[in-house]
Amino acid sequence: MHIRKIEVGDLERLSELFLIVFNHEPWNENWTKDWAYERLNIIYNSYGFYGFVAEDGSTPIGAIFSRIGSYKGELELEIIENYVSPSEQRKGVGAALMEKLKSQAKKEGVTCFALQTDKTTFAKDFYLKYGFQGHEENLLMSFTF
Ligand SMILES: CC(C)(COP(=O)(O)OP(=O)(O)OC[C@H]1O[C@@H](n2cnc3c(N)ncnc32)[C@H](O)[C@@H]1OP(=O)(O)O)[C@@H](O)C(=O)NCCC(=O)NCCS
Repeated sequence: MHIRKIEVGDLERLSELFLIVFNHEPWNENWTKDWAYERLNIIYNSYGFYGFVAEDGSTPIGAIFSRIGSYKGELELEIIENYVSPSEQRKGVGAALMEKLKSQAKKEGVTCFALQTDKTTFAKDFYLKYGFQGHEENLLMSFTF
Protein backbone atom coordinates (compact mmCIF):
# COMPACT_ATOMS: atom_id res chain seq x y z
CA MET A 1 0.00 0.00 0.00
CA HIS A 2 1.13 3.55 -0.62
CA ILE A 3 -0.48 6.86 0.27
CA ARG A 4 -0.41 10.04 -1.78
CA LYS A 5 -2.25 13.35 -2.07
CA ILE A 6 -5.62 13.26 -3.80
CA GLU A 7 -5.68 14.88 -7.24
CA VAL A 8 -8.69 15.96 -9.29
CA GLY A 9 -8.28 12.93 -11.57
CA ASP A 10 -8.86 10.61 -8.58
CA LEU A 11 -12.39 11.85 -7.89
CA GLU A 12 -14.17 9.46 -10.29
CA ARG A 13 -12.66 6.34 -8.75
CA LEU A 14 -12.92 7.69 -5.22
CA SER A 15 -16.65 8.30 -5.84
CA GLU A 16 -17.06 4.67 -6.91
CA LEU A 17 -15.29 3.51 -3.75
CA PHE A 18 -17.34 5.94 -1.64
CA LEU A 19 -20.64 4.44 -2.72
CA ILE A 20 -19.39 0.89 -2.23
CA VAL A 21 -18.37 1.74 1.36
CA PHE A 22 -21.38 3.78 2.41
CA ASN A 23 -23.94 1.54 0.69
CA HIS A 24 -22.42 -1.29 2.77
CA GLU A 25 -22.83 -2.05 6.49
CA PRO A 26 -22.94 -0.39 8.96
CA TRP A 27 -24.20 2.62 6.95
CA ASN A 28 -26.43 0.92 4.35
CA GLU A 29 -27.09 4.26 2.62
CA ASN A 30 -28.31 4.55 -0.96
CA TRP A 31 -25.69 6.76 -2.57
CA THR A 32 -25.49 7.14 -6.33
CA LYS A 33 -22.23 7.78 -8.13
CA ASP A 34 -23.34 11.31 -9.12
CA TRP A 35 -24.17 12.24 -5.54
CA ALA A 36 -20.87 10.86 -4.30
CA TYR A 37 -18.93 12.71 -7.01
CA GLU A 38 -20.69 15.99 -6.24
CA ARG A 39 -19.98 15.64 -2.52
CA LEU A 40 -16.31 14.78 -2.96
CA ASN A 41 -15.77 17.39 -5.68
CA ILE A 42 -17.13 20.15 -3.43
CA ILE A 43 -14.85 19.11 -0.57
CA TYR A 44 -11.90 18.84 -2.96
CA ASN A 45 -12.50 22.40 -4.14
CA SER A 46 -12.88 23.81 -0.61
CA TYR A 47 -10.48 26.40 0.71
CA GLY A 48 -7.69 24.58 2.55
CA PHE A 49 -8.45 21.07 1.25
CA TYR A 50 -6.20 18.30 2.54
CA GLY A 51 -6.78 14.78 1.26
CA PHE A 52 -4.97 11.50 0.79
CA VAL A 53 -5.71 8.30 -1.08
CA ALA A 54 -4.37 4.87 -0.11
CA GLU A 55 -3.69 2.59 -3.08
CA ASP A 56 -2.87 -1.04 -3.59
CA GLY A 57 -0.96 -0.80 -6.86
CA SER A 58 -3.13 1.61 -8.82
CA THR A 59 -6.38 0.59 -7.08
CA PRO A 60 -7.73 3.02 -4.48
CA ILE A 61 -8.56 1.22 -1.22
CA GLY A 62 -9.22 4.17 1.06
CA ALA A 63 -9.32 7.95 1.23
CA ILE A 64 -9.54 10.84 3.64
CA PHE A 65 -11.00 14.26 2.75
CA SER A 66 -10.61 17.23 5.09
CA ARG A 67 -10.53 21.01 5.06
CA ILE A 68 -8.99 23.65 7.23
CA GLY A 69 -10.73 25.78 9.82
CA SER A 70 -9.74 28.17 12.56
CA TYR A 71 -10.90 28.31 16.18
CA LYS A 72 -9.66 30.92 18.68
CA GLY A 73 -6.47 31.45 16.72
CA GLU A 74 -5.68 27.74 16.27
CA LEU A 75 -5.85 25.95 12.92
CA GLU A 76 -7.85 22.74 12.85
CA LEU A 77 -8.71 20.23 10.16
CA GLU A 78 -12.29 19.11 9.82
CA ILE A 79 -12.35 15.54 8.54
CA ILE A 80 -15.35 15.36 6.25
CA GLU A 81 -14.99 11.88 4.72
CA ASN A 82 -12.83 8.94 5.69
CA TYR A 83 -13.41 5.51 4.22
CA VAL A 84 -11.72 2.22 3.45
CA SER A 85 -12.89 -0.52 1.09
CA PRO A 86 -14.93 -3.13 3.04
CA SER A 87 -12.48 -5.89 2.12
CA GLU A 88 -9.53 -3.82 3.41
CA GLN A 89 -11.01 -2.61 6.68
CA ARG A 90 -9.37 -3.45 10.00
CA LYS A 91 -5.92 -3.85 8.44
CA GLY A 92 -4.52 -0.46 9.46
CA VAL A 93 -5.37 1.51 6.29
CA GLY A 94 -7.58 4.00 8.15
CA ALA A 95 -4.91 4.63 10.80
CA ALA A 96 -2.23 5.05 8.11
CA LEU A 97 -4.36 7.67 6.32
CA MET A 98 -4.85 9.54 9.61
CA GLU A 99 -1.11 9.48 10.30
CA LYS A 100 -0.33 10.87 6.86
CA LEU A 101 -2.89 13.62 7.30
CA LYS A 102 -1.53 14.42 10.77
CA SER A 103 2.04 14.60 9.58
CA GLN A 104 1.21 17.04 6.76
CA ALA A 105 -1.08 19.07 9.02
CA LYS A 106 1.58 19.40 11.75
CA LYS A 107 4.07 20.81 9.25
CA GLU A 108 1.56 23.51 8.38
CA GLY A 109 0.73 24.53 11.95
CA VAL A 110 -2.53 22.62 12.40
CA THR A 111 -3.02 21.44 15.98
CA CYS A 112 -6.35 19.61 16.00
CA PHE A 113 -8.69 17.31 14.05
CA ALA A 114 -12.47 17.61 14.38
CA LEU A 115 -15.26 15.52 12.87
CA GLN A 116 -18.79 14.23 13.25
CA THR A 117 -19.72 10.59 13.11
CA ASP A 118 -22.50 8.23 14.12
CA LYS A 119 -22.00 7.13 17.69
CA THR A 120 -23.70 3.76 17.05
CA THR A 121 -21.18 2.57 14.43
CA PHE A 122 -17.65 1.17 14.65
CA ALA A 123 -16.38 4.44 13.17
CA LYS A 124 -16.66 5.83 16.70
CA ASP A 125 -14.49 2.94 18.02
CA PHE A 126 -11.92 3.66 15.32
CA TYR A 127 -11.61 7.32 16.31
CA LEU A 128 -11.55 6.58 20.05
CA LYS A 129 -8.83 3.98 19.50
CA TYR A 130 -6.84 6.52 17.47
CA GLY A 131 -7.03 8.97 20.39
CA PHE A 132 -9.98 11.23 19.64
CA GLN A 133 -12.17 12.47 22.48
CA GLY A 134 -15.98 12.29 22.12
CA HIS A 135 -18.15 15.32 22.97
CA GLU A 136 -21.49 13.68 23.45
CA GLU A 137 -23.01 16.83 24.95
CA ASN A 138 -22.94 18.31 21.41
CA LEU A 139 -25.99 18.07 19.20
CA LEU A 140 -25.96 17.98 15.39
CA MET A 141 -28.79 20.23 14.17
CA SER A 142 -30.20 20.72 10.70
CA PHE A 143 -33.00 22.79 9.14
CA THR A 144 -34.59 21.69 5.88
CA PHE A 145 -36.35 24.31 3.72
C1 LIG B 1 -13.74 3.70 10.02
C2 LIG B 1 -12.69 3.26 8.98
C3 LIG B 1 -12.31 4.45 8.09
C4 LIG B 1 -11.46 2.76 9.75
O1 LIG B 1 -10.50 2.30 8.82
P1 LIG B 1 -9.82 0.86 9.02
O2 LIG B 1 -8.75 0.74 7.99
O3 LIG B 1 -10.88 -0.16 9.03
O4 LIG B 1 -9.24 1.01 10.50
P2 LIG B 1 -7.87 0.45 11.14
O5 LIG B 1 -7.60 -0.92 10.61
O6 LIG B 1 -6.79 1.46 10.97
O7 LIG B 1 -8.28 0.43 12.67
C5 LIG B 1 -9.00 -0.65 13.16
C6 LIG B 1 -9.91 -0.18 14.29
O8 LIG B 1 -11.05 0.50 13.75
C7 LIG B 1 -12.25 -0.04 14.36
N1 LIG B 1 -12.90 -0.88 13.33
C8 LIG B 1 -12.65 -0.83 12.00
N2 LIG B 1 -13.45 -1.69 11.35
C9 LIG B 1 -14.21 -2.29 12.29
C10 LIG B 1 -15.24 -3.27 12.23
N3 LIG B 1 -15.65 -3.83 11.08
N4 LIG B 1 -15.82 -3.66 13.39
C11 LIG B 1 -15.44 -3.13 14.55
N5 LIG B 1 -14.45 -2.19 14.68
C12 LIG B 1 -13.86 -1.77 13.54
C13 LIG B 1 -11.77 -0.85 15.53
O9 LIG B 1 -11.58 0.04 16.61
C14 LIG B 1 -10.44 -1.37 15.02
O10 LIG B 1 -9.56 -1.75 16.04
P3 LIG B 1 -9.48 -3.31 16.46
O11 LIG B 1 -9.33 -4.08 15.19
O12 LIG B 1 -8.28 -3.36 17.37
O13 LIG B 1 -10.76 -3.59 17.17
C15 LIG B 1 -13.20 2.10 8.08
O14 LIG B 1 -13.52 0.99 8.89
C16 LIG B 1 -14.39 2.45 7.22
O15 LIG B 1 -14.22 2.90 6.11
N6 LIG B 1 -15.60 2.23 7.73
C17 LIG B 1 -16.81 2.49 6.94
C18 LIG B 1 -16.94 3.95 6.62
C19 LIG B 1 -16.90 4.79 7.88
O16 LIG B 1 -17.54 4.47 8.88
N7 LIG B 1 -16.19 5.92 7.80
C20 LIG B 1 -16.10 6.87 8.87
C21 LIG B 1 -17.26 7.80 8.79
S1 LIG B 1 -16.96 9.24 9.78
